[in-house]
Amino acid sequence: MALTDIGIDLGTANVIITLGNKGIVVNEPSVVAYDKKKHQVLAVGTEAYKMIGRTPEYIVAVKPLKDGVISDNEMTEAMIVEFIRKVMGKIMKPRIILCVPSSVTDVENRAVVEAALSAGARKVYIIEEPIAALLGAGVDISKPNGTMVVDIGGGTADIAVASFNGIVKSCSIKMAGNKFDAAIIKGVQQKYKILIGEKTAEQAKKEIANIYDPDGSKKVVVKGRHLLKGLPESVEISDTDMKEFLIDNVMEIVDKVKEVLEATPPELVGDILSNGIIMTGGGAMLGGFDRLISDAVGAPCRIADNPIECVARGVQKAFDYTDELLDGFEKISIYRYK
Ligand SMILES: Nc1ncnc2c1ncn2[C@@H]1O[C@H](COP(=O)(O)OP(=O)(O)OP(=O)(O)O)[C@@H](O)[C@H]1O
Ligand SMILES: [Mg+2]
Repeated sequence: MALTDIGIDLGTANVIITLGNKGIVVNEPSVVAYDKKKHQVLAVGTEAYKMIGRTPEYIVAVKPLKDGVISDNEMTEAMIVEFIRKVMGKIMKPRIILCVPSSVTDVENRAVVEAALSAGARKVYIIEEPIAALLGAGVDISKPNGTMVVDIGGGTADIAVASFNGIVKSCSIKMAGNKFDAAIIKGVQQKYKILIGEKTAEQAKKEIANIYDPDGSKKVVVKGRHLLKGLPESVEISDTDMKEFLIDNVMEIVDKVKEVLEATPPELVGDILSNGIIMTGGGAMLGGFDRLISDAVGAPCRIADNPIECVARGVQKAFDYTDELLDGFEKISIYRYK
């Protein structure tokens, strides 16, 4: 791996970038702030995140990827270009591997690749998120041995069975962290008549959610606006509330895991039962999720080390395999800089 190799996990929630064998050099929210008058990017990442909801009309601070798809092409490209410029510094003509959400279309993929080329890349590859997740979790996917990965990000949950360098069965659903936050907002609204914000819901989720065996002992106070009085008010919510708010959403993911297993060839199912299921992405840290899946499908489940950065670590490792991987690299085009 050369110093000029840049790996990018372009996520709905976070952009994580690796440089050469230095490892992760950027881990920031997927946000871009753009000046519509001057047609220029003002900030990306954390700096842009702080501007959301606080800009004058001619400046937009947006999350250009929503629900695991590119909702704003122009802004996504502008964001990528700026992130690459920041990381590149004096590096000339890097190779770039990009991991994009799996529901992104070919046309959008192409646009993202063009953006990376216009930022100065010599060569750009695209890798599928489940393959990157498995590589990042340290799985040797070159063996004819089935492994299952469940990556729960901000926008999508990706479930895949890989064996022999390729994806055997997979499925991606738009059910992940952002929808969990929305379900918490809705739940608090219905049960306590208080409207809370997205950041508050996300924070509460990280702090107390337990979707497996809550006992009401974990609690958090959330602040919002009372729907009837119209005034600010606080309420204490518990881990049992959380399970009530989230269970329908998480069961959708569990059901998909079962479906993928049902469609997997029996030999590989046998492998998965003994190897276990690997969970990656920020959503893997939702309290009790691993035990819930494990109980539902009867296979052991383990959360990868530092699950949020797992895909990015896999992207970095993928530079060693650019000639070898089948599905992960082959299905996609390899774009060369002419
Ligand atoms: N401790 C935690 N418990 C529950 N959820 C968490 C926790 N930490 C982070 N998350 C959630 O993980 C999500 C972000 O995960 P990640 O960075 O893997 O997403 P992404 O890769 O940007 O999205 P995608 O892969 O869908 O495009 C957010 O919804 C965040 O709220
Ligand atoms: Mg992701």
